[in-house]
Amino acid sequence: MKQNRRVFVLGGAHTKYIGKFHPDFIWKGHPDFGVRDNPTIEEHLLTSIRSAVDDAGIEPGRIQKGYVGNFAGQLFARQGHLGAMAARAFPEFDGLPFTRTEGACASGGMAIVSGIEALQAGYDFVLAAGVEVQTTVNARVGAEYLATGGHYLLERDIDEFTFPAYFAVRTRDYCEATGTRVEDLAPVVAKAYANANRNPFAHMHGVSMSLENAATASKSNPHFLSNEALRPFLKVNDCSQVSDGSSSIVLVSEDGLRALGRSPDDAIEILSAVQKTGRLGHVDDTTRLVNVKNTIDQALEESNTAVSDMAVAEVHDCFAVSEVMMVEALGLAKFGQGAAHIASGATAIDGSLPMNTGGGLLAFGHPIGATGIKQVFEIARQMRGLCGDYQVGGAIKHGMAVNMGGDDCTVVTTVLRNNAS
Ligand code: CAA
Repeated sequence: MKQNRRVFVLGGAHTKYIGKFHPDFIWKGHPDFGVRDNPTIEEHLLTSIRSAVDDAGIEPGRIQKGYVGNFAGQLFARQGHLGAMAARAFPEFDGLPFTRTEGACASGGMAIVSGIEALQAGYDFVLAAGVEVQTTVNARVGAEYLATGGHYLLERDIDEFTFPAYFAVRTRDYCEATGTRVEDLAPVVAKAYANANRNPFAHMHGVSMSLENAATASKSNPHFLSNEALRPFLKVNDCSQVSDGSSSIVLVSEDGLRALGRSPDDAIEILSAVQKTGRLGHVDDTTRLVNVKNTIDQALEESNTAVSDMAVAEVHDCFAVSEVMMVEALGLAKFGQGAAHIASGATAIDGSLPMNTGGGLLAFGHPIGATGIKQVFEIARQMRGLCGDYQVGGAIKHGMAVNMGGDDCTVVTTVLRNNAS
């Protein structure tokens, strides 16, 4: 989309991302089990929206329109109509046009794209929220629901854990094509947990993961697919988390900024946001993220930037191999060299292009509909110097986020610029 009006991130917020192994998450062995429940989808959503409006420093009545990214509220939480749920956040929202966006794991990115389109059409203050609650069922039932993000009739039977199986296929094919060993992906996992250990919002904040644990199948990190041929190519810790959580941002036009007495020269700008949607159930090349690369190339072109301009990135590491393929789609490493690039420390917080600094989907967590919003707000938080123990050093001028829905199917890539730096 060529933007005819400039777009800025005015503020935002995350709830804590929680689930199994998070101390706030109530499960059978938790001391508060039976005393209190986990937050509902409504509580997560309204908490992040209210905090985002507060962070933006505006009255709720300024908001004119809103989008809510959510993948499977009806299945996990028996709740649809989440645009109208978001309208419960403030009395001032009653009657505003609020809409849900759904594109599997890119639902949040699509809320941002829709918000930007609304700003192009003349709105000045737009909310983009994302939410998912997934812990209402066990991981096996959850996998059944997540399989609806692929082509269910064509692909469900690959394994009971359909999405993990897609990426076991990618791991197998990539390793066979490049000579990479499965254990060479372990640095992706170890880095994600190390970053999450510094991030109080992260699902895996309190869980440590050594390189050896990440590389080795064990009782706590088992192979779990029932498809025998794919089983050796994926362990539990190679997978993103089944998380509950919400993230929200407030988007504003240049006119909106001026109405607040704020300067575009001092704000975080979204230079481009590109969405591409491929054919469901169709993957040309399991060793590369082709649609991802196409969105990256277009987003860079539209923003007149290069990957070498970026100082921080969020990429969709739904599985360990995904981050390796993202690195290659960004052109940071040649085909087959992505794992070595990550192992070299180049994507660590003090690396040449820090990636997934708060722990990524692997360890910050992956409440599906929230992830695309979380990624963009993380770039903004890094630019604002708000990331505490995982803050990247030095001034950050440019950053980018890549949000992928399905198996390289619906993809949103966003490029941001910090005009204050
Ligand atoms: N030994 C042997 N087998 C074991 C085991 C052990 N020690 N521990 C677990 N298993 C096996 C069992 O078969 C078990 O199932 P049952 O208990 O029902 O028999 C299975 O592994 C799962 O174990 P858990 O239920 O204990 O798993 P968990 O709650 O720890 O979850 C996970 C682990 C299954 C990997 C889960 O984290 C997961 O599903 N992650 C991926 C989530 C996902 O796919 N998200 C979408 C990403 S794709 C994307 O982003 C794009 C999009 O559009 C969707």
